[in-house]
Amino acid sequence: MKAQIIKIDPKHPDPKSIEEAGRILRGGGLVAFPTETVYGLGGDGLNPKSSDKIYQAKGRPSDNPLIVHIARMQDLSKVAAQIPEAALGLAEKFWPGPLTMIFPKTPVVPYETTGGLDSVAVRMPDHPAALALIRAAGGFVAAPSANRSGRPSPTLASHVAEDLGEEIDLILDGGMVGIGLESTIVDFTESPPVILRPGFVSREMLEQDLGNIRMDPGLDQTSEQKTPPKAPGMRYRHYAPKAPLTIVEGTADQVAEYLNVLARQEEQAGGLAGILACDETARLYQSGLVKSIGSRSSDQAIARHLYQALREFDQERVTCIYSEAFDTPQMGQAIMNRLRKAAGHCVIQAPDK
Ligand code: TXA
Ligand code: MG
Repeated sequence: MKAQIIKIDPKHPDPKSIEEAGRILRGGGLVAFPTETVYGLGGDGLNPKSSDKIYQAKGRPSDNPLIVHIARMQDLSKVAAQIPEAALGLAEKFWPGPLTMIFPKTPVVPYETTGGLDSVAVRMPDHPAALALIRAAGGFVAAPSANRSGRPSPTLASHVAEDLGEEIDLILDGGMVGIGLESTIVDFTESPPVILRPGFVSREMLEQDLGNIRMDPGLDQTSEQKTPPKAPGMRYRHYAPKAPLTIVEGTADQVAEYLNVLARQEEQAGGLAGILACDETARLYQSGLVKSIGSRSSDQAIARHLYQALREFDQERVTCIYSEAFDTPQMGQAIMNRLRKAAGHCVIQAPDK
């Protein structure tokens, strides 16, 4: 294990630790840090060599662009050009916060950071340690989620250590993140703007300000039209645990009855089925390794514990995973987007008895 791990108080990070981390970033090194969404793997966003290192550390294809994180509103126009009024309005309302916006890039942003694109994704995270680190690093931190490419995003520092401990210089451990799913991405290079990735900031919240907003048709893999998602990172099988994951739809009783049969079959074949359930349904399962990740009445808990549960199933060596569908009103769109990708879009229907 090469990376040093420094524990920080997420609300009042020790200035010495932040200064040390900022020095590493200014020198071209990599530092993982907590944000309100997931842990990020930071490098200097204006240094092409740092971005190259990020791709290498994650094992990420270098045509998959990175988000540039800023800490001050006046820094937005240094990296982004042609910022519409509506986007400034969203920045006022949601920044710092879990919203990423895409604009044409300015020449200071290297193509290494944008995966060769002429646009740049920008976000101001709502996390005191992240904001302090960005300032200490000079203002522009490129940061994808701090997982190995294809693995679930990290919600704890230990997840980062597991995936990237050998590859990076420092991990700032600020405990468990708040939201647990990556930011909402809105593309302002198109008019009307397009949601490329759903997140905590929902379509309904955005529509209050923007009126007209579209979802990237590439997000809907069930649609007839098979356009690939516009965000390169949304094209890969992703967020995935090691064991194959299947989403099971139906009423709570249908799903439980069906999964009790499937989990028993898995056991008889010498395996172990992991079952991703919620507080309301966990008691309905008699077989398999059952994990409740929260109550459907507050789906923020479900969002927050999803990736951690997928990683735990890996540790517990389950041979397959079944998940209930979580089409909840608030974060359901984001939760199901990640689950479907983790499942490689494998969704089955529990039989109607
Ligand atoms: O919450 C988050 O956004 C976290 C934390 C660390 O801030 N970051 C994150 O980064 O999720 P990453 O790299 O794992 O996901 C960024 C997504 C990728 O799907 C990428 O393809 C897309 O944003 N993206 C970035 N720049 C883009 C651009 N210029 N055009 C289209 N998609 C872009
Ligand atoms: Mg990611």
